[in-house]
Amino acid sequence: VVEASERLVLPGFIDSHVHFRDPGAPQKEDFFTGTLAALAGGVTTVLDMPNTQPPTDSRAHLVQKAAHVATKAVVDYGFYFGATDTNIEEAASVAGEVAAMKLYMGSSTGTLLVTEFSPIYRHFTTFPLDKPIAVHAEDEQSLKYFGGMGLQDHNQARPPLSAQIALSRAIAIAEKTGRRLHVAHTTTWRELELIQEARSKGVRVTCEVTPLHLFMTEEDQHRLRNFGKVNPPLRSRDDREALWRYFDDIDTIGTDHAPHTREEKDQPYSQAPSGMPGVQTMLPLLLNAASSGRVKLEEVVKRCVTNPIQIFGLKDKGTLEIGKDADIVLIDPNHEYVLADDQMLSKCGWTPFAGTKIKGQIQQVYLRGNLAYNQGNCLSTAGSGKAIRYSK
Ligand code: NCD
Ligand code: ZN
Ligand code: ZN
Repeated sequence: VVEASERLVLPGFIDSHVHFRDPGAPQKEDFFTGTLAALAGGVTTVLDMPNTQPPTDSRAHLVQKAAHVATKAVVDYGFYFGATDTNIEEAASVAGEVAAMKLYMGSSTGTLLVTEFSPIYRHFTTFPLDKPIAVHAEDEQSLKYFGGMGLQDHNQARPPLSAQIALSRAIAIAEKTGRRLHVAHTTTWRELELIQEARSKGVRVTCEVTPLHLFMTEEDQHRLRNFGKVNPPLRSRDDREALWRYFDDIDTIGTDHAPHTREEKDQPYSQAPSGMPGVQTMLPLLLNAASSGRVKLEEVVKRCVTNPIQIFGLKDKGTLEIGKDADIVLIDPNHEYVLADDQMLSKCGWTPFAGTKIKGQIQQVYLRGNLAYNQGNCLSTAGSGKAIRYSK
């Protein structure tokens, strides 16, 4: 029993899009620091992307990754399987042991990439149809074309059109094959229109937005320079407002937590890696959005708890049900503070939201009924986070 007077009680959040860099790039993050940052941010379950080193693109690499991180996690976790041109049967054979497939249609951090029709079509028909394929929907040819034109500006090098071309292809193939498609990090008005149109025709498509694109625009990228570089890039004010206007049509909020060190980010612009951390700041930023009246808290919980459970078939995860050992976050709704780099527990040690005033402080976090985080202190030991099981 948890006493919670004068406290806001929420279910533990699920971040269905993180890059914890383990194995392969421990200078950016490892599974302990990544899950610690999650816990402090009220996130009790994370789904980790496959662009690690080696990539999670075979059964052997999946088993190796699972063993490697098992003793490090302080929140529960699952993995995505990374699509390649050739691992079609292997992906289908491990489907029950992963949250979803991730298919990169345009290149980003790491080496995973599938651009041709044939392997995409074969993955779409061979991977279990009810299990989502999450796409990084940016079109490689357009990225090359605009990059090849010598355009150095990141927003031009990653044009909105590139996302729309890739998304249209993915939707067409999902329609043809009747499979479930999950669109990672949608950023533009036009993508949301495409998704709405597809749904009205019965295409089984769900979509994600990130707090980065909900709370920042290209103006922030100019301010943050390399540190604001991300794929897909921060967009215009109009696009950001469209994400809020279409909020009803958005299924999940995932952070795309993509830590890179300051040294890596401080290189010349074209060499600086893309991505920003975010797993610790999602819930605080969304509390702000709720207290300012932009969104109802229950609509946030739907996108950060209920919908991810359903979309990815996360067993043993639920909202606050009586008699069940639950993941619970207790918040002091009136405590105000300012986000700062030195509060960040991610190994990268910075946040693009430094300086943002937050109303509502996460005070305690329970993982499966156990107090795991209390007023800035992690009480659980590495390895207390467990691997998720799946209902599909
Ligand atoms: C991500 C990363 O660094 O792993 N980077 C990013 O800019 N979003 C990869 C990705 O999600 O595309
Ligand atoms: Zn991506
Ligand atoms: Zn990502």
